[in-house]
Amino acid sequence: IRVAVIGGGRSGEHDVSLASAAAVANALDPGRYDVVRLTIERDGRWREGAGPVVNLAAAVKVLAGCDVAVPMVHGLRGEDGSLAALLEFAGVPYAGSGVQAGALAMDKWATKVIAEAEGIATAPGVVLTAATAEQYRWTGPVVVKPVAAGSSQGVTLVSEPAGLGPAVRSALSFDDRILVEDVITGREIDVAVLGRADGTRVVSPALEIAVDGFFDYTAKYDGSARFLVPAPLTTDERAALEHAALLMYEALGCGGVARIDFFLTPAGPVLNEVNTAPGFTEHSQVPRMFAAAGTAYPMLLDLLVGDALA
Ligand code: DAL
Ligand code: MG
Repeated sequence: IRVAVIGGGRSGEHDVSLASAAAVANALDPGRYDVVRLTIERDGRWREGAGPVVNLAAAVKVLAGCDVAVPMVHGLRGEDGSLAALLEFAGVPYAGSGVQAGALAMDKWATKVIAEAEGIATAPGVVLTAATAEQYRWTGPVVVKPVAAGSSQGVTLVSEPAGLGPAVRSALSFDDRILVEDVITGREIDVAVLGRADGTRVVSPALEIAVDGFFDYTAKYDGSARFLVPAPLTTDERAALEHAALLMYEALGCGGVARIDFFLTPAGPVLNEVNTAPGFTEHSQVPRMFAAAGTAYPMLLDLLVGDALA
């Protein structure tokens, strides 16, 4: 089976995405898979393995010669449905979410609106643009974030009114729309859902992120965060988290693995976001969660690839 593993990308998560793709490529059983590594450079050009950069048409030709693709491109021009769209046009089956789910989940405002419609709590907040940001009236500490970005890039925790302007400008440098949300105090808990080709759903054990303060880009990748998996939860807490994770997976129409991130508050889970291309190194949350349930990393990849081909 010829598998294209796609990494890199044009977003600020290029390096993270290279790490995910490398880990996947290395863990795919060489006895079963013929792995083709495709990397999207920061400038959008493509590269096969260590070969020269090629244009999109040449990359699509390589893709079309593969049986299946495993996209590992986090963030914009990857996770947002655009890479899924390319694979649809190229006629290559792929692991993970399709165009709509990727686009909806990448849009934190759309995700929020859908969550609220499903009865899942999210942080109260508003969407602003450069044209409307002036109208915002300070009522207390907020989190300012781009509507579409990843790994906490462009996200600022603002505790004083004076911090609002710079936070808004920073978020607007990542996206035309930004969210200003109330600060939610709670435990950071992630749940992954794996949708199988036969329609069954596998919900992973919950994972708790134990971090001092804000789980920002540095804390995400410097190894300082501790993951507790399975997270210590009461039966009711676990049920509420699993229920909300499944509802979001279905409402957005996700495929393959999605990681749904929550804050667990005394009033219950508050949805933070849905990742349709979550970090996928062996030490990332999703592989850790499934490993805790007895599905080792190579096995998880077998399931994803097998289902994409089914
Ligand atoms: N956006 C990063 C890769 C994650 O959610 O794991
Ligand atoms: Mg994310």
